[in-house]
Amino acid sequence: MLIIKAGGSAITDKSTPYTIRLEVIQQLAEQLREIQEPIILTHGVGSYGHPPARKYQIGYGFDGTSERRMGFLLTHYWVDELSQRFTKVMMDANVPAGRLRPTELFVTENRRIATFFPEPLERYLDMGIIPVLHGDGPTDRKQGFCVLSSDQIAVYLARYFQARAVIFGMDVDGVLENGKTVSAIAYQDLPDWQQKIKKSTDASGGLPKKLGEIETLKDLNIPVKIINLLKPGTLLEAVKGEATGTHISN
Ligand SMILES: Nc1ncnc2c1ncn2[C@@H]1O[C@H](COP(=O)(O)OP(=O)(O)OP(=O)(O)O)[C@@H](O)[C@H]1O
Ligand SMILES: [Mg+2]
Repeated sequence: MLIIKAGGSAITDKSTPYTIRLEVIQQLAEQLREIQEPIILTHGVGSYGHPPARKYQIGYGFDGTSERRMGFLLTHYWVDELSQRFTKVMMDANVPAGRLRPTELFVTENRRIATFFPEPLERYLDMGIIPVLHGDGPTDRKQGFCVLSSDQIAVYLARYFQARAVIFGMDVDGVLENGKTVSAIAYQDLPDWQQKIKKSTDASGGLPKKLGEIETLKDLNIPVKIINLLKPGTLLEAVKGEATGTHISN
């Protein structure tokens, strides 16, 4: 089993709200067609999900106001729209990609996945359908609802299905240090890298959090790759174990 996360930084243009990069998704679809093992795909929500989630402060949960409640529903609307468009590109390329809404598969508690209803996903896999999940706003037992990143979903599913590998696609070549790609990181060094990246960038909560999620797989020693999805062919290189991007293992 392979878990592949197509980052919102790659499939959308995060600098402009509600923009999608169709050509990147097409290129991803072409590569997926070549892979001969079970895949679960999850995608980030980038320029579709982050603007409404931020505007309505979905991450803080339900506060009893009708505005927050409506914002929660509106965020779902935009995320679903991105995912609909994403899966349509996949199907047009003859990739059997089937959407499953994480809000209906997961319940969180304090923003961490607490319950997973695997049956629809497992039945999709049995039929040779590639399940497509995405960052979402599920219900949360403590705070009503929350933001659930597709990074957290990817590592959760990697553990659940004992994945062979997890691949994170972004819009840069991997973890960068002084503009250069770091080719390998040991699981035990991830906390140091998180700190380093937090210090070097002000606004990007994105990458340090992603590394934090990846770190939860340390005990399983599942190999993780962070690659550039804007570049054609990198996904297949990663699947074949060729050198590309940043490789994380023990
Ligand atoms: N040291 C670094 N190495 C690599 N990327 C970095 C670094 N510091 C900051 N970044 C930024 O982190 C971004 C990736 O995190 P981000 O959360 O934005 O992407 P994503 O996870 O693909 O998107 P989404 O969260 O929407 O799925 C890159 O676009 C890059 O600009
Ligand atoms: Mg991110």
